[in-house]
Amino acid sequence: MITKPSKRAYVETYGCQMNISDGELMEGILERSGYDIVGSPEDADVVLVNTCAIREHAEKRVLGRVSQLNGLKRDRPDLVIGVTGCMAQRMGGTLLEQAPYVDIVMGPDGYRGLPETLDRLEASRNGEDESALRTVISGPKSIEVVRESSKRGPQLAVLQLDMDENYQGLEQRRADGPSAWVPVQRGCDHRCTYCIVPYVRGGEKNRSATEVLAEIRSLADQGVTEITLLGQTVNSYVWQDVPFPELLRRVARVDGIRRVRFTSPHPRDVNEELLDVMATEQAVCEQLHLPAQSGNNRTLKRMLRRYTVETLLEKVEMVRAAVPDIALSTDIIVAFPGETDEEFHDTLDLMRTVRFDDAFTYKYSLRDGTPATRLPDTDFIEPTEAQARLAELIAVSRQIQNEINTSEVGRIEEVLIEHEGRDPGQIRGRTKRNKVVVFDGDAARIGAYTHARLERTTGATFVGSEVETSELVTAAV
Ligand code: 5AD
Ligand code: SF4
Repeated sequence: MITKPSKRAYVETYGCQMNISDGELMEGILERSGYDIVGSPEDADVVLVNTCAIREHAEKRVLGRVSQLNGLKRDRPDLVIGVTGCMAQRMGGTLLEQAPYVDIVMGPDGYRGLPETLDRLEASRNGEDESALRTVISGPKSIEVVRESSKRGPQLAVLQLDMDENYQGLEQRRADGPSAWVPVQRGCDHRCTYCIVPYVRGGEKNRSATEVLAEIRSLADQGVTEITLLGQTVNSYVWQDVPFPELLRRVARVDGIRRVRFTSPHPRDVNEELLDVMATEQAVCEQLHLPAQSGNNRTLKRMLRRYTVETLLEKVEMVRAAVPDIALSTDIIVAFPGETDEEFHDTLDLMRTVRFDDAFTYKYSLRDGTPATRLPDTDFIEPTEAQARLAELIAVSRQIQNEINTSEVGRIEEVLIEHEGRDPGQIRGRTKRNKVVVFDGDAARIGAYTHARLERTTGATFVGSEVETSELVTAAV
């Protein structure tokens, strides 16, 4: 009997942690159906580019990359190029027209059927599935064949959003290592007026807590000690009678799990119950990402964020009262349409008041189909002005970060060793407060916990030195 050689697939992911986790999910699905997962597009029969749509810049980068990958088809015309994820969902058939060398576009709810879609493409290419070329099947989980180009062959688009698809029963293919990301929620029920996510990922869908916990127990059995729970508004998670704080508590109590993080919470759902779990469960890290987006009430209202600066500051106080040594990070958008210079300065004031340990800062990017696109043309801010605001915000946030980190020099922190450092003989790890520390050590120790003294800071990260256990005892006395 002749056995068919395995096909080889390569997945390249852009964007947020949820997308990276989706990339692992696709790899898991493909591997289980007989594909070998390879580490470069040159070695693959199927190349999937898993994309982000959150800002225009992210999409432009991907379009460039896909066109570059098309070069591989010159020598290997059978290569399959697929574009998956949020940008695939957003652009759909337009993407197939703009990039005719793309064979498949697939949105975030189509991955369960990925192997079948690939089979179907092959059958269509071989002329075995004539019907596939013109059939449009409607209904959930359908495959829509949108285009047949005689020169290029068939192109498939899978774009159905599916309120029931939360990938129950399917597991990610995870790289070996001490840390794992576990999606507990997909989609989002908010409608922040700048944001494309609810349109490309659909409404909020929560996974069964039983399944999440079983997965985490199994990860712990395989040696994983750090878990990051993922969801678009992760703290609004609720499954049957298990709200997010309870899920977090149960995860923190799984044998073998030493660190639990979660991202991204919505400030509105930061409540006493959550803070109680954060304060009392040893494994929950002293770190919180609290996306503020703006420090001005009129802007927050027009963004439909559903909180005010005052209530946000109250939350910050609650958080710091519950977990005094917590490290806070945030997301900020500058130059939202209509933001005045004064309103922008309110955002700078918020940064100075809260003093976030870290800030992810963005210029507003217009996303077709989102409510903010309907604001009057005159509201849209000149790119040079937007750039100037971003630069000012970054300068303020870096200065604050530098001051905070400088004040932490001298501390001894528990570090989970995660990677090799950039220089030979160095390793890189993270503290519970999510601060990166680089120090001399052997890469064989990746996955181990140790203690390091923070010797100096580069501003964003630390250079440290490992502390002998005996020194730790003395330090504690
Ligand atoms: N323009 C700029 N930034 C955006 N974000 C989301 N949508 C946009 C947009 N249209 C930012 C928000 C969010 C982060 C993940 O990306 O700050 O929290
Ligand atoms: Fe987008 Fe707002 Fe939902 Fe976050 S909460 S994913 S910013 S719509």
